[in-house]
Amino acid sequence: MKIAVLPGDGIGPEIVAQAVKVIKAMNIGAQMQEAPIGGAGYEAAGDPLPEATLKLAKESDAVLLGAVGDWKYDTLPRDKRPERGLLRIRKELNLFANLRPAVLYPELASASTLKPEVVSGLDIMIVRELTGDIYFGQPRGISTLENGEREGINTMRYNESEIRRIGRVAFDIAMKRNKKVCSVDKANVLETTELWRQVMIELSKDYPEVELTHMYVDNAAMQLVRAPKQFDVMVTGNIFGDILSDEASMLTGSIGMLPSASLDENNKGMYEPSHGSAPDIAGKNIANPLATILSVSMMLRYTFNMAAEADRIEKAVGKVLANGVRTADIYTEGTAKVSCSEMGDAVVAAL
Ligand code: IPM
Ligand code: MG
Repeated sequence: MKIAVLPGDGIGPEIVAQAVKVIKAMNIGAQMQEAPIGGAGYEAAGDPLPEATLKLAKESDAVLLGAVGDWKYDTLPRDKRPERGLLRIRKELNLFANLRPAVLYPELASASTLKPEVVSGLDIMIVRELTGDIYFGQPRGISTLENGEREGINTMRYNESEIRRIGRVAFDIAMKRNKKVCSVDKANVLETTELWRQVMIELSKDYPEVELTHMYVDNAAMQLVRAPKQFDVMVTGNIFGDILSDEASMLTGSIGMLPSASLDENNKGMYEPSHGSAPDIAGKNIANPLATILSVSMMLRYTFNMAAEADRIEKAVGKVLANGVRTADIYTEGTAKVSCSEMGDAVVAAL
């Protein structure tokens, strides 16, 4: 088991250190090697995805990533910015399927900004397409028109096979869950997503047991806060998935709880928390490492087929929360506030 460890920027190194502790405590013979990405990659090699980092990631069975980005890089040319390193590694490794589960740990029902009865028992799997859409579509850029005015262009595009392969991932996952897929689009306005809807309908014929519904993205955003428990699996394109998964994370109490897996056709994967690098709290040892630790659990489940070990990590996290241990973002009165590294230690102790 060869794991490339890419801490990245901001709180990345702090939270990844806790996940590494957990991997070591599991004693599963994992080999880990670290490399810079994002702003750290730029500092080390003038490139947000240094060649050596990409090589390591390609040679590894799985990648554990922290987060990338810091305001101090916002003035760099676009291809040198940290985010571009993340987008490139997703594309280079062909990680088209991004799984973002939003699960509410019962102990955190009161940490959510929504009423406990609205979110208790919540268990949604967001399946986001990750290597297409307006994130990668050509043409793109900022140019100057003949009249001297500047214009920005991005292109939303999907071909059938891209839609079909992410659809399959969603339907296959639904078969192992409650057999419901909600496909999110904007088919009333955007042709790209009209095609998306057609392909999902065609694909659903291969999955007669799964109930397929469709929802426009604006309505989906509203339904997620109105009645989130109506959803089982949601499948959507890159940009809608980016937005809806941030929204869904807050149902679980904090974005600091949401792990993710990005998989290729063969279940090789990159695992990262869904949240960002939070430069405002970097280096303070107060970030929540649980999303990263839960990403390790997803790694064991999806890439290494170690379901029992994955369950063990999730149970340990559940136990820590049941014991009232909380980082600042999920702290409520009557619980014990701990630092990032103390949370890591608590999970290791629970293991
Ligand atoms: C995410 C992030 C990234 C994205 C950024 C950092 C490029 O928001 O993983 O959701 O937009 O995909
Ligand atoms: Mg995002």
